[in-house]
Amino acid sequence: MSNTSINFGLVGIGNIGRAHLKYLNEMDNVALIAVCDVDQEKADQFASTYGAQAYYSASDMLANAGIDVVIIAVPHYDHPTIAIEAFERGIHVMCEKPIAVHVNDANRMIDAYEAAKQTYPNLQFAIMFQERTLPFYAKLKEIVASGELGQLTRATWIHTKWFRSQTYYNSGGWRATWAGEGGGILTNQCPHTLDMYQWLFGLPALISGHAHIGKYHDIEVEDEVTAYLEHANGMIGHLIVTTAELPGTNRLEIVGDHGKLLLENGKLLYYKYPESMLTFTRETEQQFASWELEPEEVPVDTTVPNGHAVVTRRLVDRLIGLDVDLIAEGPEGLGALTLANGIMLSSFEKRPVTVPIDGDAFLRHLEEKIRTSSFIKKVNEGPETLVDMSASFGTAK
Ligand SMILES: NC(=O)c1ccc[n+]([C@@H]2O[C@H](COP(=O)([O-])OP(=O)(O)OC[C@H]3O[C@@H](n4cnc5c(N)ncnc54)[C@H](O)[C@@H]3O)[C@@H](O)[C@H]2O)c1
Repeated sequence: MSNTSINFGLVGIGNIGRAHLKYLNEMDNVALIAVCDVDQEKADQFASTYGAQAYYSASDMLANAGIDVVIIAVPHYDHPTIAIEAFERGIHVMCEKPIAVHVNDANRMIDAYEAAKQTYPNLQFAIMFQERTLPFYAKLKEIVASGELGQLTRATWIHTKWFRSQTYYNSGGWRATWAGEGGGILTNQCPHTLDMYQWLFGLPALISGHAHIGKYHDIEVEDEVTAYLEHANGMIGHLIVTTAELPGTNRLEIVGDHGKLLLENGKLLYYKYPESMLTFTRETEQQFASWELEPEEVPVDTTVPNGHAVVTRRLVDRLIGLDVDLIAEGPEGLGALTLANGIMLSSFEKRPVTVPIDGDAFLRHLEEKIRTSSFIKKVNEGPETLVDMSASFGTAK
């Protein structure tokens, strides 16, 4: 193990920020030297716990702490400002998902990163899509990327394991508001699902979205969404997500010309076809047919390390000079955000939208929602409660 030590600073000591602090404190080649929160008491408390310097403004930390990497774990609207300032100072960024609230901001971040690389060629921009490391999803990626399914025809993902109660939504003033969060399930809970979708299948050419605003919760943003997605290669996709279903379902079906994958309940089943499904469809003399196929269960090693620490470790490994790829490059965050904004734009305008989406049009809707909001946000009274974040992380089950 190299002796090199990378100086880390973290901004935003909330639910996820604390999870980052915990593993960073134990990670080789990492010196956690700065923590920052606008809540000064919190910053002081965690600085003292971890032997770091406390800062109360991200700008101050970026300018004065001497950090090599900043982890951005504040609410979404502030991701671009902090990331851009970090890039301009040559500081590497690990940004929490979503990359930003809207694609225009994400593009500003990506442009700033590209510009800063002229001065700092080794500058790194990573995004926290830790679900890419989950063993079942990593296995799906391996199979889909190998091309063995042949031409993909359909991907249907019902992901309703994002249950959030009203109490959750009331736990922070910024949550589930247009001004504070910029969206609902697509912006907060589902970026991982959206990233996984575009990681596996790429972006669709056409998006048709149907979003329900505050259907099951007293919130002003979407809590139930269905989307129909058309890809340039002919594949169609469906996404069905909600934060109001118990017990939730996480079922992903991927159909190709040579086989079909089904992931559900911690089991990955593979129906391998005896011949090309599309050729059979065109050429068989049978008018009706069914293939009685026994699926193979694909072995998946669920004991491999995964999660947030693995994503950050990969960035550290790169920074200490190992020849490794990041789990997710920052600019890839634009994919999930294009889906999120595209689905909402389509839903707002009640028409399908093409990709790349019109970022200005989405922003006009968002600004209008903020301007005309009459929603009175309820926030839980009392001291801040610590949340067990592990219950919110996806497991691909
Ligand atoms: N990757 C994951 O699994 C995962 C899980 C949860 C949250 N997140 C993301 O992490 C981010 C934070 O979410 P959370 O649930 O931890 O929020 P939170 O509300 O629990 O914590 C946010 C913290 O940031 C502080 N803060 C706000 N604005 C700030 C600023 N400009 N400068 C410094 N401090 C500031 C707040 O005081 C608070 O302590 C969000 O973007 C969210 O989507 C990712």
